[in-house]
Amino acid sequence: MSRKPIIAGNWKMNKNYGEAVVLAQSISNRMDDFWLNKVDVVVCPPFIDLKPVKTVFEFDRMDVELGAQNVHWEEAGAFTGEISTGMLKNVGCDWCIVGHSERRTLMGETNEDVNRKAKALIAAGMKPIVCVGESLAVRDAEAQDEFVCAQVDAAFAGIPAASAKSCVVAYEPIWAIGTGRTATPEQAEAMCAAIRTTLARIYDQETADQMRILYGGSMNPGNAEGLLAQENIDGGLIGGAALDADSFVDLVKAAL
Ligand code: PGA
Repeated sequence: MSRKPIIAGNWKMNKNYGEAVVLAQSISNRMDDFWLNKVDVVVCPPFIDLKPVKTVFEFDRMDVELGAQNVHWEEAGAFTGEISTGMLKNVGCDWCIVGHSERRTLMGETNEDVNRKAKALIAAGMKPIVCVGESLAVRDAEAQDEFVCAQVDAAFAGIPAASAKSCVVAYEPIWAIGTGRTATPEQAEAMCAAIRTTLARIYDQETADQMRILYGGSMNPGNAEGLLAQENIDGGLIGGAALDADSFVDLVKAAL
């Protein structure tokens, strides 16, 4: 089964307006648009940088896609500080990260919130990148498969197979995020395979085989090759290494 890989950069709360434009332009300058036939490239800047970053790629006719880092499930209304799917679509944003571990642990985002957000994105014709991953305590207790697969079950509750096919799952062990301590290719592959088995149980094998599963957590040009070579790893969700144009584009090249 050949799935088109995805390299997605999660800029988190980094880069002001000017810096975001410079980074987008530097990425664009280093990219070859031919590569985009072979790999989907997504950048997820802070909300206020979405439009200027989109403009850079549009001007260069470089089909790098845009993702947000969060969304609210309601369409509009009295939700101070929140952003809707419609607002994101309106600035040319087709992807959105949901359930990132930083949002789960620091902002109290629950499995139910993740499910509501994924459903709202699908309803708006957008593609969720659903993040799952265990803490070190869960891994030390050897409960990681059960924990992560329960997150997958909860995230996809009530989402039909036809819609799930456009969704992406990102396995990001919390102990590997921003720590420089990456999961070994074997650890990452074992979990991504378990996630695919879970998706096959929820839906069917064909649907699970079409869905793309990413690894995230201290991925960089030095360790990407081994991770991307794994059968069930279809790309990466990149934090720190996505903030530098050279290393981000090296990761794109590694996925070609
Ligand atoms: P990292 O972050 O690459 O800096 O570990 C990945 C993520 O949190 O998505």
